[in-house]
Amino acid sequence: MSTKGHLTGIETFFDKDEVIVTKTCLKGSITYANRTFLRISEYDENEIIGRQHNLIRHPDMPRCVFKLLWARLQAQHEIFAYVVNRSKLGNHYWVLAHVTPSLNSERKVVGFHSSRRVPERAPLEGTIIPLYHDLRQREQQEADPKRGVEASSDMLQAIIQNKGVSYDQFIFSL
Ligand SMILES: Cc1cc2nc3c(=O)[nH]c(=O)nc-3n(C[C@H](O)[C@H](O)[C@H](O)COP(=O)(O)O)c2cc1C
Repeated sequence: MSTKGHLTGIETFFDKDEVIVTKTCLKGSITYANRTFLRISEYDENEIIGRQHNLIRHPDMPRCVFKLLWARLQAQHEIFAYVVNRSKLGNHYWVLAHVTPSLNSERKVVGFHSSRRVPERAPLEGTIIPLYHDLRQREQQEADPKRGVEASSDMLQAIIQNKGVSYDQFIFSL
């Protein structure tokens, strides 16, 4: 895709009564996207079904957030996370995502599901954007990306531990 990597710096918004939904297979390939996702991400359905979800990854997202997301999903837990995504045309949009494993009737994980709402502006601007900026900066200080994600994961954990709360408590305290 010729637009890959390009960023406009323009933030786009969706309504408070809308939910952006996608589902993935166990490996993170998109199997379903609702109309709101297609509109805000500026992709046609046939461009995204079967593609890895990192298609919409924004470079400002710290890797440690996705590491935590996958660790929680692999342990059959849900996670709430603030995420900034990149649209096909290089615009960006912030969400508060709730990501869960999808279980079949035998309680076997068959895929994953993400529902995203409009985040509150105050926690986003007051806490999340500066936090993610610092986490990204920490990651980029390491030449080895693996070492980078370990360093930013340690940093995130230390910040949360200092507050004497869990990750979930931290997110819901914002
Ligand atoms: C259900 C589900 C939804 C996801 N939604 C997003 C998303 O909206 N944006 C995003 O960047 N990554 C999302 N991811 C995480 C991606 O799979 C991936 O881990 C992330 O984009 C980092 O990719 P990278 O490690 O290749 O850089 C989602 C994963 C799952 C399972």
